[in-house]
Amino acid sequence: MRHLLDTASLSREDALAILDVAEDMSATQSRQVKKLPTLRGKTVVNLFFEDSTRTRISFEAAAKRLSADVINFAAKGSSVSKGESLQDTAQTLQAMGADAVVIRHGASGAPRTLATSGWITAGVVNAGDGTHEHPTQALLDAFTMRRRRYGGESRGRDLSGYRVAIVGDILHSRVARSNVWLLHTLGADVTLVAPPTLVPQDVSGWPVRVVYDLDEAIANRPDAVMMLRIQLERMRAAYFPTEREYARRWGLGSDRLRALPADSIVMHPGPMNRGLEISADAADSPRSTVLEQVSNGVSVRMAALYLLLAGEREDDMPGHPARA
Ligand code: CP
Repeated sequence: MRHLLDTASLSREDALAILDVAEDMSATQSRQVKKLPTLRGKTVVNLFFEDSTRTRISFEAAAKRLSADVINFAAKGSSVSKGESLQDTAQTLQAMGADAVVIRHGASGAPRTLATSGWITAGVVNAGDGTHEHPTQALLDAFTMRRRRYGGESRGRDLSGYRVAIVGDILHSRVARSNVWLLHTLGADVTLVAPPTLVPQDVSGWPVRVVYDLDEAIANRPDAVMMLRIQLERMRAAYFPTEREYARRWGLGSDRLRALPADSIVMHPGPMNRGLEISADAADSPRSTVLEQVSNGVSVRMAALYLLLAGEREDDMPGHPARA
């Protein structure tokens, strides 16, 4: 794998390969093998032009657990504030020896520009670009669903017939877009649930059903309900009902939690607006996978970095006899 820019272009085989390598990575972590030597001598740069807690720290943990060196770059406090361009910033980091660049940027398409411009030779991983995609979030979400569905028998399996309701601010959500494409590729049935003003114009071309009523979506017995953060920072007043109205009509609270089938899971990519799209008792309930998603994110990002930087050398695989 040369770059990981989106899920729209990931084949079923590539997606399953990443999820299966993530299973191997997770197995090493649960055996208390804190560090693998696989990426010793490699340098991973975290290039973040937007804020992040989970994604940045998780990529850092993933790279360190594979013994790579990590350089963290935040645009705030850097020469970006003096007007330095993406090209010059990236080339500066490449000159410091970057083998992989993990980039989060407010502009949709920035990771692809970096990967295809010829400015740098490093592999590029999209850690969220504008409203376009957030592929490793969707991969860790799929990993979590697959684990919940198949437990220890997950390897090689897709999500055929798995029913997922993605609820909330679809319009601004790169997480929703990455999930829609990946879940479709893996055979899941996806329903989007949102106020009409938070559904993108081009949704008719997506492989999904759209409903505007969360209770209707819950009555259809989803296996997973993925609540999305209301992105208040990207919202214009005209788009959005009042917060109280939104919580009442599209929020997941105690009553809707009780109406879900007993084995349905509640997901959220974080950060959460507690009391808006999700109540505290839903977020903290035994059926919530919020923290499980965070833990799984490290394994998935280890897999992505491994496949990017160590290639497909089988004897490098964790668990391979040559490495035992
Ligand atoms: N889910 C997610 O991308 O969270 P962060 O913005 O904290 O990285």
